[in-house]
Amino acid sequence: MLNGSGTFDAIAARRTFGDELLERFPFDAFVSKTITLAPRQGNPPPRLWETPAGLINSIGLPNKGLEGFLASDLPELAELPVPLVVSVMGFSRDELAELVERVGQREEIALIELNVSCPNVETGLVMGADPAETARAVERTRPLTEKPLIVKLTPNAAEPQAVAAAAASAGADAVSLINTLKGMALHPRTRSPWLGGGSGGVSGPAVRAVALEQVYTVARAVEIPVIGMGGIQTGRHAADFIAAGAAAVAVGTESFRDPAAGARVADELGVILCSERGFPLRPRHRPARMDGPDRKTPATGDKTVK
Ligand code: DHB
Repeated sequence: MLNGSGTFDAIAARRTFGDELLERFPFDAFVSKTITLAPRQGNPPPRLWETPAGLINSIGLPNKGLEGFLASDLPELAELPVPLVVSVMGFSRDELAELVERVGQREEIALIELNVSCPNVETGLVMGADPAETARAVERTRPLTEKPLIVKLTPNAAEPQAVAAAAASAGADAVSLINTLKGMALHPRTRSPWLGGGSGGVSGPAVRAVALEQVYTVARAVEIPVIGMGGIQTGRHAADFIAAGAAAVAVGTESFRDPAAGARVADELGVILCSERGFPLRPRHRPARMDGPDRKTPATGDKTVK
């Protein structure tokens, strides 16, 4: 069980829950929020809108930039008890190459996820919406690192399976999908766009059926592993994604409601798969509860809460 990039802030969670977070970490690998080469402020508020059965976000990639990430976030993320995946996005192939090369040199990082959801400044095309652009991005970065490369696919492509096949042919080790679907909300009174960034990305249960279909189709188009996500809230939902062809699944928006959702969904999935396949039940996780600071074990002298 993974987290969707940008849906679980492990550094903030560590500050809130202390070392209990490390003892009961809700994911088997942790995917960072996407970093860019230069630092970014992100979009003006408001950045969120709750939609029926979902969320629209327009965060705008706020991050410390590559140097800031390596200097201040990476040491903290390296303390997590699971492999670290760093998500990177470049506004050009040169930028992407620099990110992959630098991130690839750090032994704290196990895998790299290429977030190809942004417009390429040279062509104006969204890299991940176009199979040829995606192939060029992967071909350029593939020789720069030996770490596995995951390509995060956008659902806003005419044929995500063609993009996935292009990524696989160019040397990607896995694909993950789906990223958010384009959406918007209007201010209830002024009827102008609600989100500071204008439009945003829809996630949560509202997109699950779309995600399931895309995972099913992509899994039949490529031989590399597919990481499935999009509105997964329960073990039953996760089991559907596995049945559709996902080799692994991720929880995203549900973690905003319940920061322990990843562990809960993994436990539920384990019970379902064991019973369907006739294996004895052996829950992987102790029941994970992260209800807030009140439930935290009292801080002791040697437990520093960052
Ligand atoms: C953001 C949203 C995304 O869906 C994405 O892939 C990258 C960044 C954001 O708004 O920060």
